[in-house]
Amino acid sequence: MKKLGFIVVMAGMIFFAGKSFGFLSHKVVKTTSSEIIYVPANDPADAKFPKGAKIFKEKCVACHQITGMGVPGAFPPLKGSDYLKADKKRAVAQVLNGSNHEITVNGAKYSIPMPPQVDNYEDAVAVINYVMNAWGNNYGIVKLADVKDIKIVR
Ligand code: HEC
Repeated sequence: MKKLGFIVVMAGMIFFAGKSFGFLSHKVVKTTSSEIIYVPANDPADAKFPKGAKIFKEKCVACHQITGMGVPGAFPPLKGSDYLKADKKRAVAQVLNGSNHEITVNGAKYSIPMPPQVDNYEDAVAVINYVMNAWGNNYGIVKLADVKDIKIVR
């Protein structure tokens, strides 16, 4: 009888622990009570470019921020960026190879280097198409075939 009680308690604990870790490993985007929202209002680009959105949230947010507005004086904005808008191919090269020179975005200078972020054309195109259409950006899209001649420098 004692043993059975122990097993029941253990099973309960394992179930409870599983549930709590399950909760931790999931991001709550929407709740039915609409009281807890950890992620800002849905951007239509998230549904249109899911792969790019995922890469952005994994790799780019740390510097360019979830708002795409970057950090003044350090990380340039992607939202409303004239530099991004001007050259799609250069943007794809940016995530493949990074950059290490002074650039001017919307009139402000940035000179901290950006390390390479992705190692293949598919991911590079996916994330650039996302940033070119997120936060109200309307910069069109770039095709895989157009970027295959970019040299990946490692
Ligand atoms: C460690 C911080 C960091 C991360 C992570 C990072 N960037 Fe950058 N990004 C920078 C910096 C710094 C610059 C300016 C680089 C320079 O001056 O050479 C930049 C410049 C850019 C530019 C060109 C300038 C502009 O604002 O239009 C684009 C486009 C860009 N990043 C996209 C991305 C994307 C997409 C990702 C994720 C795949 C990413 N970056 C990840 C720091 C970062």
